[in-house]
Amino acid sequence: MSGREDTGRTIRLRDGAEVEVRPLSAREIAGLARFNAALSASSRALFLPHAYDETTLTRQVARHTRGEDLSLVVAEDERIVAYAFLWEYDRPFPLLGLGVADAWQGRGLGGALLDRLVAAAVVAARDGIELTTVPHNTRARSLYESRGFRVAGEVDNIAGDGRVVRELRMCLALRAGGRSPERRFAPPG
Ligand SMILES: CC(C)(COP(=O)(O)OP(=O)(O)OC[C@H]1O[C@@H](n2cnc3c(N)ncnc32)[C@H](O)[C@@H]1OP(=O)(O)O)[C@@H](O)C(=O)NCCC(=O)NCCS
Repeated sequence: MSGREDTGRTIRLRDGAEVEVRPLSAREIAGLARFNAALSASSRALFLPHAYDETTLTRQVARHTRGEDLSLVVAEDERIVAYAFLWEYDRPFPLLGLGVADAWQGRGLGGALLDRLVAAAVVAARDGIELTTVPHNTRARSLYESRGFRVAGEVDNIAGDGRVVRELRMCLALRAGGRSPERRFAPPG
């Protein structure tokens, strides 16, 4: 987090780059599809939370607009460089997802977004946050652990292309006694 400025609409990274954080809306659909298409195969294998066709993205926008999810895109000019969300933000234990474009990885953006989503869940008085990540994703895992997430088991996660992936389930408790619910780890239906 060192040296990073993080105001409401913008994040300034350690290297001075400044990006804009925007809520997911219909105007972001084409850019978000381009963001996914531009990911390297290895990044996409780690971050494919749902399909990126227009129907799916329209559904994700609707979920955000109704308050069911909190979904954010990060843009440099008009190019989306990161996508982050808390699914089921209207429930006690939202599910977090985070993906950063390859050229932006390792520059502090993922950490800034994670801090922002955790802060939003705290303000909303949620019990905790849950996420899944593959065991070999050491960068993601160390990031989550640095913010207090702990491994709570393994689950079969259904990726956006239907693959079933065995992943670690990690939880961050925000309130004493908060328990993550039984849930299906899959794109929202
Ligand atoms: C995982 C991901 C979200 C992290 O975001 P990022 O912007 O690259 O990460 P940051 O630069 O903010 O670094 C986060 C932390 O990880 C640490 N880190 C950075 N690179 C690392 C590496 N190669 N190995 C281990 N730790 C690393 C940093 O020390 C940093 O800690 P800090 O915030 O306390 O300084 C991003 O790399 C990404 O989208 N990767 C591909 C898709 C993916 O894996 N998504 C997550 C699925 S669970």
